[in-house]
Amino acid sequence: MTTPRSYFERMYAARTDPWDFENRWYDARKHDLTVAALPRRRYRSAFEPGCSTGMLTARLAARADRLLAVDVVPSAVATAAERVEVHTHVRVRQAAMPHDWPDESFDLIVLSELGYYFDDADLATLLTNTRRALEPGGDLVAVHWRRPVDEHARPGDQVHAALAGVPGLTRTARHEENDFLLEVYARTPPPARSVAEREGLA
Ligand SMILES: C[S@@+](CC[C@H](N)C(=O)[O-])C[C@H]1O[C@@H](n2cnc3c(N)ncnc32)[C@H](O)[C@@H]1O
Repeated sequence: MTTPRSYFERMYAARTDPWDFENRWYDARKHDLTVAALPRRRYRSAFEPGCSTGMLTARLAARADRLLAVDVVPSAVATAAERVEVHTHVRVRQAAMPHDWPDESFDLIVLSELGYYFDDADLATLLTNTRRALEPGGDLVAVHWRRPVDEHARPGDQVHAALAGVPGLTRTARHEENDFLLEVYARTPPPARSVAEREGLA
């Protein structure tokens, strides 16, 4: 079963920042690794579903001309919106993935600590919507915790195994630790190019 919205609403009712993203070195480092893995210096239009309180959103804001961040919980959306309010190119909205998918195309989508909340049908819809919304040549960055968690429908490795089977997505990078997987995919065709190839170095 997909983890219900009520579960997250209870978490945010108890604490403004349920995962303590503002203080944990683990997450600060992982967010830094996530933006460091972006193959391009700058993106035209980026999408971050499941943005929570906006800690990763604030980092992504520096790399995109437009950024849409959404979360299913209104109070998380309010905290994230306040965090990034100086960035007028960032929109923060309430939306439930995978069905309230925005009617836009993006050259960057970031799935960070989200895919494991979905059952098989919803994960398939999430990945199909992701592929459809990515412009040809656009980048997808996916990052997921690997260890078992009661309220997760699956471990992060299963999310990344599902990603590997999506036609039209070609993996260009993989960072593996005992705690999490971080992968970058390109929407193909056109054929995926490395950063050095994109920069004319190879
Ligand atoms: C573990 S946090 C990840 C936050 C952020 N992406 C990061 O990596 O730092 C998961 C977030 O996803 C949100 N979420 C869970 N299910 C969702 C859904 N179906 N649609 C949109 N957001 C969802 C939760 O409310 C929570 O804020």
